[in-house]
Amino acid sequence: MTHTTDAEAAVHPLLAPARLGVLDLPNHLVMAPLTRNRAAADGTPTPLMATYYAQRASAGLIIAEASTPNAAGQTYPNITAIHTPSHVAGWRRVTEAVRAAGGGPMFLQLQHGGRVGHPATSGVTPLSPSPLPLPETIFTPDGHRPAVVPREMSAHDIRATVADFASAARNALDAGFEGVEVHSANGHLLHQFLAGNTNRRTDGHGGSVAGRIRFVREVVEAVAAAIGPQRVGVRISPRGTVNGIEETDTDVLYPALVEALGGSGLAYLHLVHADPADPLFGRIRALWPGTLMANPLLPELTAQAIGTASARLLAQGADLIALGRPFLANPDLVRRLALGAPLNPVRDRYLMYTGGATGYTDYPALDDQPSSSSIVALDGPRVA
Ligand SMILES: Cc1cc2nc3c(=O)[nH]c(=O)nc-3n(C[C@H](O)[C@H](O)[C@H](O)COP(=O)(O)O)c2cc1C
Repeated sequence: MTHTTDAEAAVHPLLAPARLGVLDLPNHLVMAPLTRNRAAADGTPTPLMATYYAQRASAGLIIAEASTPNAAGQTYPNITAIHTPSHVAGWRRVTEAVRAAGGGPMFLQLQHGGRVGHPATSGVTPLSPSPLPLPETIFTPDGHRPAVVPREMSAHDIRATVADFASAARNALDAGFEGVEVHSANGHLLHQFLAGNTNRRTDGHGGSVAGRIRFVREVVEAVAAAIGPQRVGVRISPRGTVNGIEETDTDVLYPALVEALGGSGLAYLHLVHADPADPLFGRIRALWPGTLMANPLLPELTAQAIGTASARLLAQGADLIALGRPFLANPDLVRRLALGAPLNPVRDRYLMYTGGATGYTDYPALDDQPSSSSIVALDGPRVA
């Protein structure tokens, strides 16, 4: 006799097949983009990365980690890039490995760091809408260094960066991705244009809400024109404060942005830390005509928490659920949720961003573990 726990019942809808634009997904679970700093020094994905992603092939959709569309966009050492033939070849090995493992579609996240970058890492002065440094130190090959004052982007820089995003999107398709996610969240370049404290421009790319959303619109339009709108997603983090962001008009800014992007036929809108109790969530859902992907704010990394948060989001109109750390620590997350099995905890935060296999490809799948009775969940041992 099979017993279904509340947690299992709550995750059940996540396991059903889903549709994303022109793509069929085997389930509703999306692996959120996770920067892991395992690329070669020039940003080329390594064979170890192919193993890591192939281990996670059962995700309904994998959004591969933030990859820079040009040299100036590099944030940290050993992050991935997608602007040279070597980058395309490296990513092709990754997408082929995932496909060989029976994986579903993959998107690549395109991220320009803007002021979240350092000449000691990228070799160039970082760019930003305004010459305002990140109010933090930044990790470089020489350790943590004070942030430098970024160069205010000229009209030419803006046009060139938009073109680099479009060309990176074409590269991503050449590398075997089904689409790209434009990273407009977490305090990186596009978010720096959106937020009033990082965008003090007085030209047409600053000032009013319409001015501050313009760069994001231009990037998304260029990328959509390059590869087709149904292959393009956009990630946003309303109310997010990462990387020194202070939004003062979130409730006006994001509805305007969502409305501006809503008519383009994009594949999806991806909300970081989606909170169904925040009225902004409902407004965004009402304004966005397409697929809404929600990355829940989880109180703890357990199947129970994932089930509860996802059920609330799906009930309030989210279409797909994106998870980061649960996929990081559980290569077979989908199977574990299907079985109601306990999850591996994230072992060591430090290992998230260091090179090598430890804390990367050595998280066990259920079959690798000695016996279910010795598996300890974050919320204690599971009692059969
Ligand atoms: C190690 C690590 C790397 C991350 N890298 C990215 C990234 O490349 N792009 C991005 O948009 N978010 C990134 N994030 C944020 C995650 O995608 C996700 O939004 C966050 O972890 C919250 O979801 P979770 O509770 O399911 O982990 C990262 C988070 C972690 C922990």
